[in-house]
Amino acid sequence: MAEYDAIILGAGAAGMMCAAIAGQRGRRVLLVDHADAPGKKILISGGGRCNFTNIHTAADRYLSANPHFAKSALGRYTAQDFIALVDRYGIAWHEKTLGQLFCDGSAKQIVAMLLEECAAGNVTMMLGQSVEDVTHGDGRYRVTTGGQTHMVPALVLATGGPSIPKMGASGFAYDVARHFGLSIVQPRPALVPFTLGGEDALFQSLSGVSAEVEVRWNKARFREAALFTHRGLSGPAMLQISSYWQHRTAIQVDFLPDRKPDWLLDEKRARPRTGLRRTLTDVLPERLVDALLERIGTQGELGSLTDKQLRQAGERLKGWPFTPSGTEGYAKAEVTVGGIATAGLSSRTMEAAKMPGLYAIGEAVDVTGWLGGYNFQWAWASGWSAGQAL
Ligand code: FDA
Repeated sequence: MAEYDAIILGAGAAGMMCAAIAGQRGRRVLLVDHADAPGKKILISGGGRCNFTNIHTAADRYLSANPHFAKSALGRYTAQDFIALVDRYGIAWHEKTLGQLFCDGSAKQIVAMLLEECAAGNVTMMLGQSVEDVTHGDGRYRVTTGGQTHMVPALVLATGGPSIPKMGASGFAYDVARHFGLSIVQPRPALVPFTLGGEDALFQSLSGVSAEVEVRWNKARFREAALFTHRGLSGPAMLQISSYWQHRTAIQVDFLPDRKPDWLLDEKRARPRTGLRRTLTDVLPERLVDALLERIGTQGELGSLTDKQLRQAGERLKGWPFTPSGTEGYAKAEVTVGGIATAGLSSRTMEAAKMPGLYAIGEAVDVTGWLGGYNFQWAWASGWSAGQAL
């Protein structure tokens, strides 16, 4: 049976990067995945075009119990490094918005590139194989997969988080980490649509309506599009804030992010004969204006409304509270917040302090990026860092 220096569990974004780097450094690497094809989340990402990085990558765009943990890896393997790799393969790309880089063609190009990088490192890949057992003794990890047991000095957990279980996602990395005495920061679905209940459920009639808003929760704020759905709230602004949101709390939505709170008073002075509805439909979709005004209960020409009424309406439109009943859960979550606690890992190599030779990378770790290519950049950077250390 072949001898390996390292086994990497999970042939996703982080696992493939790690395998390629370690392999190209001369390590004999076995990359194992229970799926029948590698990089399935890469293939569906960014609507099939893979938002593979973000040029504004910085540690403050990641959630983690230790906000400093991601700095080292993100600094050692940057967005520019990944762009250089993509360029080396002649993969055309463009910036869509907010520093988000997408393939012009297809996410398949990113998977093909990573597979070629793995081949250049003579990585052995075992697909469609579930991992039956992982134990440790005499300084070696014993991994049983496909009926064979391999003994290796290094084991990398790269099986991601439980988001989108129907694609083979699992909490496997957490189970193995716990088994070896590592702690887990309570995982929860993130970058996930909200559901609305109670009185807010009435907003579901706005399904399909979107608007650029600023959404706030505690100190987190995002200015992007929000979308009403038949179940609640989605769109980039809502997905972003969902990563921060705690159950039974309200998010605040500013429907007029470009307007001052007393904007309606200025409008009254300038155009007293214009209706409030007409004034608002100049900046917001009609269906949304009707729903908001119905709840505010103020209608009529601006000149016929008191300053107090207009000030109150303006304030409500700039700080509309929604208390989601929940989220659409792991089934619809792009990522998982929480995971293997960074306190037990080296930020330089991703190796567990308590278990020499055990590494955790990618989404399995308690580092979660904003929407917009940040999560792949973490997968590349943490995979690269471990790959350099194996
Ligand atoms: P990843 O999930 O990629 O890989 C884990 C691998 O482990 C999988 O191949 C899986 O089959 C395997 N595995 C799981 N359990 C196992 C077990 N028990 N045994 C063996 N193998 C096992 N991010 C971004 O930056 N830009 C984007 O455009 C998008 N878009 C996007 C769209 C959608 C729909 C989703 C669901 C997610 C995104 N993301 C994203 C997030 C991104 O996909 C995610 O952060 C990375 O794929 C994480 O990389 P990992 O390698 O850690 O896990």
